[in-house]
Amino acid sequence: MTQVIGHPDPSAFSGRLRQRLAELGAAVVSINHNGQCKLIGPYRWEHELIVGSAPFVAAVRSLRKELFDSTGRWMNLWPGLTLVPMHTTATREHAGNHPGTAPVLAALLLGEKVLDSEQFSRVCDARETDLRAAISKFDTDALMSDHESERLAQVIGWMARDAADLGWRLHELHDLSWELAGSYEELSLLYKLSTSMVVDHPPQDFLEQACAEMREVVGLRWLAIQLSTTEPGFEDLSVPVCVDSQSSYDLVGIRKIGLQLIEAMGGRTEPVILDDARVLGIPGLEKFAHSLLVTPLHVDGKPLGLLYGADKIDAGSGFSTVDSKLCASLGSSLSIYLKNVLLYEDMHSMFIGTLHALSTTIDAKDSYTQGHSERVALMSRQLAEAAGLDSHTVQRVYLSGLVHDVGKIGVPEAVLTKPGKLTKEEYDLVKMHPETGARILEGIRQMQDLIPGVLHHHESWDGRGYPFGLAGMDIPLFGRILGLADAFDAMSSDRTYRQAMPMHKVLDEVRRCSGKQFDPELADIFVKLDFTPYLNMIEEHHNLRKSA
Ligand SMILES: [Fe+2]
Repeated sequence: MTQVIGHPDPSAFSGRLRQRLAELGAAVVSINHNGQCKLIGPYRWEHELIVGSAPFVAAVRSLRKELFDSTGRWMNLWPGLTLVPMHTTATREHAGNHPGTAPVLAALLLGEKVLDSEQFSRVCDARETDLRAAISKFDTDALMSDHESERLAQVIGWMARDAADLGWRLHELHDLSWELAGSYEELSLLYKLSTSMVVDHPPQDFLEQACAEMREVVGLRWLAIQLSTTEPGFEDLSVPVCVDSQSSYDLVGIRKIGLQLIEAMGGRTEPVILDDARVLGIPGLEKFAHSLLVTPLHVDGKPLGLLYGADKIDAGSGFSTVDSKLCASLGSSLSIYLKNVLLYEDMHSMFIGTLHALSTTIDAKDSYTQGHSERVALMSRQLAEAAGLDSHTVQRVYLSGLVHDVGKIGVPEAVLTKPGKLTKEEYDLVKMHPETGARILEGIRQMQDLIPGVLHHHESWDGRGYPFGLAGMDIPLFGRILGLADAFDAMSSDRTYRQAMPMHKVLDEVRRCSGKQFDPELADIFVKLDFTPYLNMIEEHHNLRKSA
């Protein structure tokens, strides 16, 4: 947490004030709520004689209320004896002391008339001091004229009020500084996280980052996220738990606590600070947390789960309202993010569903090629994965495989299903399908990166393919991958003009054509793939065709 500077220290004011008062010949008396008096700072024998006496204490007790309620308003206790309260309850409340227990500080001024007063003689009696001896011992430098005493009391009153005002303003400044520090933490955390809130990346990574950043900022032993929803897209979400590197906790135990906390929180929507987590009555909780900060995650009134963390690392410091505000902000950002993840999942599955429907429609033009696009997509994905491409690219290769033959929509069914050899004209028609497919997808922004696979899956490594006769590495990567998977499936499945080749022969053919039709590096990886999922799919499609 950012350090807040300028914490007001009321004792610094009274310390400076006491020093000035001593220089002016006044003493400072601390008076508590019972009327007990004590001289503090520099004082003279004369001050001690009076303050330590019963008549003085009795007079102070009778004025207690006024003393505690009025900063700077001077009062005469008896002739020649003036008190100026400097630090009252109001000031102490602002300074953060516990009201009702802190003593009041008052300046004590002695005037010329004090020695002649009846009260002074009572002081001497009470202190068992001879009045004459006391008067002769009295340092007349300690005494002021009425006028001097009145003027000084007035000045001290102003100083006390100014000091109280300054203390109050410093306290306000401190509050503001604390609030600003909190807002800064909040903004910088949210900014940092907002740059990582990308819905098409795995939500686990983002939630883990959010959890780790937040634990660090608030200074918690551990912080976890527990989701309660079973919406699609959430069920496989591994819920992160971030623990301080110094601590060792059973992470499974923390997750279990999360599930019980969801129940305990009921339908709450605001963060809850539990200084003593035992009040929840969750068995075994004390092993993990003494205090808890729990922030419900919800969207459109629907609970999504909880953000919950335990114990501040700074020994002795509890959760503050700044911590709870920070958690509430992160909680609402996480809720929005999770809502977007749900929406994205929804849209994404609709998008994939549409592509599957499209590929099925194309393949349905010819019962022999049923399932062809799905199988090409499957093998292309496996090849891309084995070639070490990143997960996003692997997914795009898969989608490109699903739609690679979309251009066949423009090829007459009679040509596609013709048993036996095609005429040159018919073959020319078939050869148009990569470009037709690319044109169809051109208008769809989200599918631009799939086009190279569609357009170039019939190119050949030696430059003898179509539609452009590209060779070697000039053929885009998606085209080289899809071309291999496409040819493999064509050889492995039944066609109108021939029976499927056995797998070992197909793989021999792939090896033979490596460096001729196929990218040799990809062909080398391809022949080592696991073909079980592919064979299962062939079986599935075969059964479907039989039952149709
Ligand atoms: Fe094709």
